[in-house]
Amino acid sequence: MTQTLKLASRVFHRVRCPPELGASLGSRGSDSAPRGLADIPGPSTPGFLAELFCKGGLSRLHELQVQGAARFGPVWLASFGTVRTVYVATPTLVEQLLRQEGPRPERCSFSPWAEHRRRRQRACGLLTAEGEEWQRLRSLLAPLLLRPQAAARYAGTLHDVVGDLVRRLRRQRGLGAGPPALVRDVAGEFYKFGLEGIAAVLLGSRLGCLEAEVPPDTETFIRAVRSVFVSTLLTMAMPSWLHRLVPGPWGRLCRDWDQMFAFAQQHVERREAEVAMRSQGKSEEDTGFAAHLTYFLFREELPAPSILGNVTELLLAGVDTVSNTLSWALYELSRHPEVQTALRSEITAALGPGSSAHPSATALSQVPLLKAVIREVLRLYPVVPGNSRVPDKDICVGDYIIPKNDIMGQ
Ligand code: HEM
Repeated sequence: MTQTLKLASRVFHRVRCPPELGASLGSRGSDSAPRGLADIPGPSTPGFLAELFCKGGLSRLHELQVQGAARFGPVWLASFGTVRTVYVATPTLVEQLLRQEGPRPERCSFSPWAEHRRRRQRACGLLTAEGEEWQRLRSLLAPLLLRPQAAARYAGTLHDVVGDLVRRLRRQRGLGAGPPALVRDVAGEFYKFGLEGIAAVLLGSRLGCLEAEVPPDTETFIRAVRSVFVSTLLTMAMPSWLHRLVPGPWGRLCRDWDQMFAFAQQHVERREAEVAMRSQGKSEEDTGFAAHLTYFLFREELPAPSILGNVTELLLAGVDTVSNTLSWALYELSRHPEVQTALRSEITAALGPGSSAHPSATALSQVPLLKAVIREVLRLYPVVPGNSRVPDKDICVGDYIIPKNDIMGQ
């Protein structure tokens, strides 16, 4: 979900496996017999750790992933601190893995995050919930957020945010007689746009990220989003006993999540008051109402702590996914001006010439080139290239048996 957590440049999944189970499956058998963890090739633990911590690997995990597949083949294994990971690096193998999962796949991507919720007695959101709770939240959120018709409800809100971004970029480019000025930090601008956009969708609030002066609490939130992924990686790499001796990463992770929760809380509480006013018969105009997810969640009577957990996690999930994809899309379009021209024509035709209307769900079905561009950008620069699963039973991936394990508890 972030550059820092970009683990690969192409499709892959990872399955965490405790070391001892590999041995129990036995060593390499005949050519046709499935093999166990001990047979999966991969770098030595000291070599991998040196790559991560001494050679700057933490900031280029996606490259390590590509190198690993080139060196060891489509299934390879490496240990990252206490986490032993089986990397699967072809679409066919990923499909094989996914076809074996049950209705509640165990993801365990960020167990330190779930641990933070447990220690702070906070409710989990969709990113950290597991099992039945995950399934319940997923069934609730999908029709409110994921389906195209649901997403179309937020088109007007997002259209306003896009307008603000365009005005801000125009201001930076200047309207003077001379050549337009350079926008020095396009990625940073998209980062602010991502947060402004997702907050508008989730909370119906404008945060002021695209104003000349960004409010201090919003700055704090942005810093926390940037920093939490680094502390997450470090925390995951350390055995829990080491957290007492080296408390820095865990402390930073908690500080970052506490700041994000505090930020979301003030906005969710305002929305709660708004919902109460609406239920007292105040009109939508009186309450400054705009369609937003928090309102729909209160209407569904999801408990307030769970709404807060979900909003906080969605705020995090919606920032660098959007901003990085936009940055890379612009980069590739600048390298392919003919695609840029064709894309502009397609969008103009779908909206109707000279239209300043926001795109409807129907218009979105008429822009195949736009969809293709986004898919190609995500293929080239996958913003979430890493994904994890913990199998709930022994499963077969390629020639290997990956054992069921309970590593989530660690
Ligand atoms: C370019 C944009 C995005 C990409 C490529 C992307 C990709 C992904 C991927 C690959 C997963 C893992 C799915 C799995 O476990 O099988 C995921 C999960 C998730 N994403 Fe995104 N995402 C994007 C944008 C967003 C945005 C804008 C939000 C927030 C509004 C978001 C919220 C989530 C959540 C909550 C999950 C966990 C879902 C679940 O477990 O049910 N994502 N995303």
